[in-house]
Amino acid sequence: MSPEQIPLREKILQLKRERRAIILAHNYQRDEVQEIADFTGDSLELSRTAASLDCDVIVFAGVHFMAESASILCPDKTVLLPEAEAGCPMADMIRVGSPREVIMAYPGFPDPPPLVFPTHFSLEALKRQYPAAPVIAYVNTSAEVKAASDVCCTSANVVQIVESLPDAVVISVPDRNLSAWAQRHTTKKVISWDGYCHVHQRAEPRDLERARHAYPHALVMAHPECRLEVLEMADHVTSTSGMLRFAKASSAKEFVVGTELGLLYRLRRENPGKTFYPLREDMVCPDMKKTTLESIFRALRDTRHVIRVPEEIRVRAKKALDRMLSIR
Ligand code: 13P
Ligand code: SF4
Repeated sequence: MSPEQIPLREKILQLKRERRAIILAHNYQRDEVQEIADFTGDSLELSRTAASLDCDVIVFAGVHFMAESASILCPDKTVLLPEAEAGCPMADMIRVGSPREVIMAYPGFPDPPPLVFPTHFSLEALKRQYPAAPVIAYVNTSAEVKAASDVCCTSANVVQIVESLPDAVVISVPDRNLSAWAQRHTTKKVISWDGYCHVHQRAEPRDLERARHAYPHALVMAHPECRLEVLEMADHVTSTSGMLRFAKASSAKEFVVGTELGLLYRLRRENPGKTFYPLREDMVCPDMKKTTLESIFRALRDTRHVIRVPEEIRVRAKKALDRMLSIR
């Protein structure tokens, strides 16, 4: 945290006490945001934490679907998303019933090229095609998609969730890479949506080859949102907090990190004797970086932006989240 940020930090801490607020931050948040948070974690840890908190206000330093999940799980608490525009492009790639073109248009992030889903496609249409198959919704989805699904999953538990279902055929939305990873570890048939995370999609096998050449003693960790070709070349595939656990437990001293660069903050802080290299320097999620200390301060001072889900959707979405959280 820079010296100019210290007075702001004090103001946030005071407001936090007055409002009985807790700050939750995802592992991809800016360093100074992670530093001020009460809990930092991956999507699964943050959902579990949100469900168990004793507070009046939750400030979610993350993206929209994360704050929405917290609000679904804790309807009696005020859930604030400091930056209203912090969304997840992958979560926006799927709609339940009103099919529409979804165009990726993130300035400065042209790779991969714009992807347009056919307008006749919707989750409802996919469900009609496979009426007996349960729907597994990655938590990176809207409350509406969760409400139309049977169970949620995160990158930390997708295989476990697929295996927990009695059905031989399952639908997995919206991440094609996470689905491919699940398919690789199950004998069930996984029907996938065609979405992807534009940050992880960038990593290619040649990046991994380059890293292996540059750092021959390093172990390569990759997030399951990466392409399957990349995952198959990695030494360990896991969620962001899974990477933290792996790096801590490993006797290796060097690691290549195949995920969003925000994770480097905790990896380095928690493992001072080890060295971490990004798989690519441009694996940066612009939405995760929107939240700043300023916006957290404004969120607490002005009670903004309150995230609430219509009750009818919330109750159904909570069922899918609860079912995931009940599977240990
Ligand atoms: P995890 O921290 O759950 O691995 O999630 C990664 C992600 O992309 C969140 O948006
Ligand atoms: Fe969405 Fe990818 Fe950003 Fe996570 S890193 S919020 S999946 S775009």
